[in-house]
Amino acid sequence: MKVFSAIAVGAISIAVLTPTYAEQVRHEPVQVIQPYISEEPAKVELGKQLFFDPRLSMSGIISCNTCHNLSYGGTDNLKTSIGHKWQAGPVNSPTVFNSSLQIAQFWDGRAVDLQEQAAGPIAANVEMAMPHSLAVDVIQSIPGYREQIAAIYGTDQVTLDHITDAIAEFEKTLVTPNSPFDQWLKGDDNAITAQQLAGYELFKSVGCVSCHFGEALGGKSFMKMGLVQPYESDSPAQGRFDVTGNEMDRFTFKVPTLRNVALTYPYFHDGAAETLEEATQVMGQLQLGRNFTEDELASLVAFMESLTGERPELTLPFLPESGPDTPRPDPFK
Ligand code: HEC
Ligand code: HEC
Repeated sequence: MKVFSAIAVGAISIAVLTPTYAEQVRHEPVQVIQPYISEEPAKVELGKQLFFDPRLSMSGIISCNTCHNLSYGGTDNLKTSIGHKWQAGPVNSPTVFNSSLQIAQFWDGRAVDLQEQAAGPIAANVEMAMPHSLAVDVIQSIPGYREQIAAIYGTDQVTLDHITDAIAEFEKTLVTPNSPFDQWLKGDDNAITAQQLAGYELFKSVGCVSCHFGEALGGKSFMKMGLVQPYESDSPAQGRFDVTGNEMDRFTFKVPTLRNVALTYPYFHDGAAETLEEATQVMGQLQLGRNFTEDELASLVAFMESLTGERPELTLPFLPESGPDTPRPDPFK
């Protein structure tokens, strides 16, 4: 008897102390997001500084955070991103929150992981327009970065790999656990409303979940945009076709995550859908051949609103001071 009550008391105190880490109890095609605890805090801190550092761009005024604003939902909320010299890019910027939970990065999946991805925007002409060798020189010219890199990687020769490895480690911490929907998955019946639950049931029964599944409700497969009806777009992006050249891949895109989707408007690779209602109606028509009623639409949207999780609390990093050889910002360069 004594033993039993001791266990019971122990279990209760654990439950009270760490409610966030409760296990998923409902068996569903969607899984809860686990918090990410990095074993390399110094690397995370370095990656955070680099993520916020505009000196990684040619102009010295554009950082990763410009287009993946962590004070928003990890996006810029623009139709398509604006980069170097005010150029509009061809596609909408996806969120960096939970991007580590995907099988590949970019709308067309051309980068296999976050480290490979991070090299892309630094050099991309419509983004940061900074040749990699110059990016490395700039980081090398900043004493505070040299010191951190020496402490973490054991060398005072900065490489692109150091920069992208640290950014990737920081990005892995950008998960958003404990959304109302996750709390429901963990057994809390009151965490979502009846309308949100009805929306989830509909999401499963009509087949949204066949593409938007897993922890991220997406990010696990490439699917054609416009399965039932073709999608009209003025964006030049052709999806996976641009990577493989395979005709079957034309207009096939990575299924985006629906985590925090209420924050990441406008929607689709071309940013053409301004609201979640509009994006949902288009999905119904083009992917499933269905026209949703007002009620169905409202409950699907309400369900997706329950996917907004807890964003990590970040303190704004102080960036190491420029050295004598560090280029000064020049917005017109
Ligand atoms: C000028 C705006 C801009 C800047 C600056 C920028 N990005 Fe992006 N980012 C984008 C756009 C647009 C895409 C989508 C491009 C595509 O899929 O072809 C993207 C894609 C990504 C993705 C892939 C997400 C996914 O779901 O596929 C990650 C991760 C990312 N960026 C991280 C970064 C990091 C790290 C930096 C800084 C080194 C950075 N970005 C700088 C606009 C930007
Ligand atoms: C056959 C696979 C498939 C099905 C079924 C499907 N989706 Fe999608 N979904 C996609 C793809 C692919 C995209 C990206 C399309 C693009 O940007 O061109 C997408 C994009 C979205 C977006 C925009 C996300 C963003 O960040 O831009 C939302 C919202 C969405 N889907 C919700 C739904 C809902 C709700 C359903 C069910 C009514 C559904 N989807 C059914 C594959 C699918």
